[in-house]
Amino acid sequence: MKSAPVIAIDGPSASGKGTVASRVAARLGFHYLESGALYRLVALAGGDRPEQTAAGLDVEFRDQKVFLNKQDVTDSLRSEAIGVRASEIAGLAAVRAALLGRQRAFRQRPGLVADGRDMGTVVFPDAALKVFLTASAAARAQRRYKQLIDKGNHANLAALSRDLEERDQRDAAREVAPLKPAADAASVDSSDLTVDEVVDRVLKMYRERM
Ligand code: DC
Repeated sequence: MKSAPVIAIDGPSASGKGTVASRVAARLGFHYLESGALYRLVALAGGDRPEQTAAGLDVEFRDQKVFLNKQDVTDSLRSEAIGVRASEIAGLAAVRAALLGRQRAFRQRPGLVADGRDMGTVVFPDAALKVFLTASAAARAQRRYKQLIDKGNHANLAALSRDLEERDQRDAAREVAPLKPAADAASVDSSDLTVDEVVDRVLKMYRERM
């Protein structure tokens, strides 16, 4: 039997991948995998051996919430500090290997939209559609700033820009599964597009391919 179709959406931090991917999934009635959450969960769970933590993660995604060891960690997962730590841990090949099967298990009928850094290159190389979503550094910093402020967090735009840039450089420079477009990915720059416009573009490309 043919496996369920996958739409892979990769790109740098705060490029809008998460919002776009979850809306595309909702429009198609597909499952949704936010792979970054898994790396964030390993960071949050802590421990001296991240690869062991990754292999033994007790995690559940339910009703748009994330539970680690049965506790709701949806909000703590989003902090910048956890994002930075997740990016460090994500450079370890053993951690990536430990999370691979867990990510592929999300591929179920009728289909999956997956966002991250290596969805199209490593995790789902046979994805039906691969999108590399970018946005200017200024647009991305501004978006992340607004996200944090809207949630009542303290944020500093200059510090955020610096963090994003460092994180993307680390994600792109690592040896295993670096952040880069798959050879057959369609690049979309969302700097001057609304979320709806990006979602429509992705859906159009998907329909054209199917
Ligand atoms: O998408 P995000 O910002 O929540 O991801 C947090 C970190 O996890 C990111 O800086 C790099 C890492 N990551 C990864 O290496 N591969 C993925 N597929 C997703 C995230």
